[in-house]
Amino acid sequence: MAKVSKEELREAISKLPRVKLVYLPTPLEDCPRFSEALGGANVLVKRDDCTGLAFGVNKSRKHEFIFGEAKAQGADCMIHGAASQSNYSRQLTAACAKMGMKAYLTPRRDERSKEVGIQGNLLLDTIMGADITLVNTEGGKSQGDVQKEIAEKLREEGHKPYVVGRHDAVLGAVAYAECGLEIYEQLKALGLKADYVCMASGSGTQAGVALAGKALGAGWQVCGFRPSRGGDNAAVSTNIAKLANEAAELLNLDVVVEPEDVPNIDEYAGEAYGIVSREGCEAVELLGRTEGIILDPIYVGKAMSGVINHIRKGKIKNDQTAVFLHTGGTPALFAYNKEIVDEMGYSVKIVGE
Ligand SMILES: Cc1ncc(COP(=O)(O)O)c(C=O)c1O
Repeated sequence: MAKVSKEELREAISKLPRVKLVYLPTPLEDCPRFSEALGGANVLVKRDDCTGLAFGVNKSRKHEFIFGEAKAQGADCMIHGAASQSNYSRQLTAACAKMGMKAYLTPRRDERSKEVGIQGNLLLDTIMGADITLVNTEGGKSQGDVQKEIAEKLREEGHKPYVVGRHDAVLGAVAYAECGLEIYEQLKALGLKADYVCMASGSGTQAGVALAGKALGAGWQVCGFRPSRGGDNAAVSTNIAKLANEAAELLNLDVVVEPEDVPNIDEYAGEAYGIVSREGCEAVELLGRTEGIILDPIYVGKAMSGVINHIRKGKIKNDQTAVFLHTGGTPALFAYNKEIVDEMGYSVKIVGE
């Protein structure tokens, strides 16, 4: 049963500070050839890889709120650091370019950066003008230490940096409550009801879609496939529910998301975060060959391998409808070209040599 109307949810979201960065709503695409290849279940893909900002990703949406907050605080530059192939950093840099701000990135000097150098997301960060310091975390300094040093220096120079922190995940949940609202409206227009909404997520994205689903009485089950191995599934669900409820509080909504509303598993993460899996590569290939939609091998390809498995095993039934939320991340594909080609045994013919 709906606790909140579409209009009330939209109105609640519209009260937060926000800037315009992306094209919304993103399309909800029917995938008949993919569904047929799986022999059952109607699968639609919500194309959040198509937000229009530097190849898109789920971070595009939340950056509208993060930059809204940063601007309201008078910030003139942004500081962030994660993996060297971070989709987040790419989107932050793209948003900075659009807002006329400088991005300071402190990515990990991880294996990927040693293997491929300035490629994939790191190439895009560089093109878009980020100031990048790769941090070898075994060298005594953490990314946080380096960010503090950069922030101090910037403040001494008269700048006002915004350092991305945990609050960011709550704004991500708010942004994905809006995405959930879009899915709800798009399904309605198609005369459909989803049984499942599935995605790669271990935090805000799943929290937001679950919050919207519960608020609107959408009746879908939200399934999260996290990209890293390990961690306790129940503890992850508890944290996601907490984020959803913090977002509900920020939006002043009387809706409670319980841990059982947000199941999240690591079963399809492969060996570890950042290492391609056979099943993930097969999922990338299948959607590419049936629908011309490209997934990344680290987040979304692995999550889609979970959905494929759920359909093949009958956990998602033939007469059911599943929306797969494509959270983007496509540029990372190019930083894993060698692993993908080796795993899948891809080759091309050469003539004339
Ligand atoms: C492509 C992609 N999908 C999904 C996620 C997971 O998002 P979250 O756990 O923040 O909800 C990320 C996070 O970086 C991502 O880059």
